[in-house]
Amino acid sequence: MSRYGAVMTRFEGRRALVTGAASGIGAATVALLRSEGATVVGIDLQPSDDVWEGDVTDPGSVGAFMAAALEHLGGLDIVVNVAGIVHFSRIEDLTWADWQHHLAVNLTGPFLVSQAAVPHLAARAGCIVTVASVAGLKGQAYTSAYSASKGGAVLFTKSLALEVADRGIRVNCVCPGGVDTPLLGPASASIPTDADPRLMDRLHSVIPALVHPDEVAEAIAYLASDAARMITGTALVIDGGTQS
Ligand SMILES: NC(=O)c1ccc[n+]([C@@H]2O[C@H](COP(=O)([O-])OP(=O)(O)OC[C@H]3O[C@@H](n4cnc5c(N)ncnc54)[C@H](O)[C@@H]3O)[C@@H](O)[C@H]2O)c1
Repeated sequence: MSRYGAVMTRFEGRRALVTGAASGIGAATVALLRSEGATVVGIDLQPSDDVWEGDVTDPGSVGAFMAAALEHLGGLDIVVNVAGIVHFSRIEDLTWADWQHHLAVNLTGPFLVSQAAVPHLAARAGCIVTVASVAGLKGQAYTSAYSASKGGAVLFTKSLALEVADRGIRVNCVCPGGVDTPLLGPASASIPTDADPRLMDRLHSVIPALVHPDEVAEAIAYLASDAARMITGTALVIDGGTQS
């Protein structure tokens, strides 16, 4: 039901795969797509009755869940790359393993899933939406690995959009600011205790609130919908004015 009272069925008959589906933005996206008619396979490291187990950093796992999803859904129209991680740390404390982990989940994950999906995405409505971050569009202190991974995801999106446009596939990303999800607590706890307050101030949005996960899901759904027929290669910012 839309806020105007009309029943919305933007995704009737559409088939979608959403990673990071067990929590936060991914769970909100699965719920919204389903509420508007889509059949959705959710993938996460943490499986449940409703979410299949899969690791977006592992090519073998991606190949296996993509094949199983294609068989289950009978095709694929929408892919949403949501799985992601973030930890704050000073460059001196950023371990090689932590750097690798950020790139693996936040950048290699969308690459592996998108590469596996492209040959199967329906030309009529095929699209990919990746959750990047406002941290991928501007510098952000103490998150150099995260920002590098998300900046990579933005340009991966823009490059792939050009390459697959002639197949009728659209590729976009969203760039949220702070979103009220389970990711925020541990991320905030990892901020260096002696962080420079001037640098931390740059994280605050001019609208004094966190983004709600449903608001990010709405933006994802818009980009995945027919209303966004002419939108590809874009990075849609949802950050309460952090960038302004
Ligand atoms: N919360 C924020 O403030 C915020 C801001 C900007 C961007 N984002 C991005 O939004 C996305 C979703 O974040 P969220 O806030 O909903 O966090 P979340 O922690 O609630 O959800 C992330 C999910 O990704 C899953 N995941 C992690 N590694 C995975 C892997 N290798 N394979 C499969 N699944 C994996 C986790 O198990 C978890 O369920 C992330 O990409 C994050 O970087 C979040």
